Amino acid sequence: MSNAISIHNLTVQFGKKCILNSIDLDVRKGETLAVIGPSGTGKSTIIKVLTGLLKPTSGSVKINDEEVCCFSESEWDNLRKHMGVVFQYSALFDFMNVKDNIAFGLRRHYKVGEKEVKKQVEELLTLVDMSGMEQMMPSELSGGMKKRVGLARALAMQPDIVYYDEPTSGLDPVMTMNISKLIRKTQKTYGVTSILVTHDMESVFVAADRVAMLYKGDIVALESVDTIKNSKNPIVQAFINGQEVTGEDKNEQ
Ligand SMILES: Nc1ncnc2c1ncn2[C@@H]1O[C@H](COP(=O)(O)OP(=O)(O)OP(=O)(O)O)[C@@H](O)[C@H]1O
Ligand SMILES: [Mg+2]
Repeated sequence: MSNAISIHNLTVQFGKKCILNSIDLDVRKGETLAVIGPSGTGKSTIIKVLTGLLKPTSGSVKINDEEVCCFSESEWDNLRKHMGVVFQYSALFDFMNVKDNIAFGLRRHYKVGEKEVKKQVEELLTLVDMSGMEQMMPSELSGGMKKRVGLARALAMQPDIVYYDEPTSGLDPVMTMNISKLIRKTQKTYGVTSILVTHDMESVFVAADRVAMLYKGDIVALESVDTIKNSKNPIVQAFINGQEVTGEDKNEQ
């Protein structure tokens, strides 16, 4: 199977702090790859590099076989039309109702007509189990509902690649399971390639195909979901069993 994303020798440094230390990571087309690891190890940093929000210190990143590290802002803008991002705090526009939040990109980038907007929003709300809630305002939604609207908005642009940054944090176990199943359903329905950044192992087991564990600047494990449970790596075992693994960077002073 070919790769949607190929990361090679990627290094990200902030001053003297080396956050990612020459990592290699491939994401296969159509798979959901979970990226786990303690807080502060650089999981969100990877998403920032992959969405063009942060230029890496060095290394190569190929998305759909194109080297993106030297992309201009307009090249990134074009590429971002094919990417969906589900942010940790949903990042909905508070002053827009659910429908307008979901339709934002459709109207802006594709100048889609209102009849088509209505149809697509209805379909997306059905997918995320929120049919008929077009008129609700973000302030009227629970945390889980906001995350589902965030997912619907990310999918509205029919992305090839979806990044989820902590999509279940702060949710109760039932909602965590619902969102995790929805990530799986999205993969099956649309064939998208996804990166799922999470602390939540239950979510990994439901939604992901493979898992990469980030620790002290390195990928210390890259395994299928089935095999990671029996990993011999003590760092991985500690993390998945909820024991403390410190996330401090080795260059931290
Ligand atoms: N713009 C920046 N300038 C300086 N340091 C930064 C910047 N962005 C991130 N960092 C540092 O990089 C490290 C990794 O941050 P990142 O947000 O990627 O961690 P994370 O693994 O996503 O953590 P969490 O699980 O808490 O979300 C942290 O030590 C953070 O302070
Ligand atoms: Mg983060």
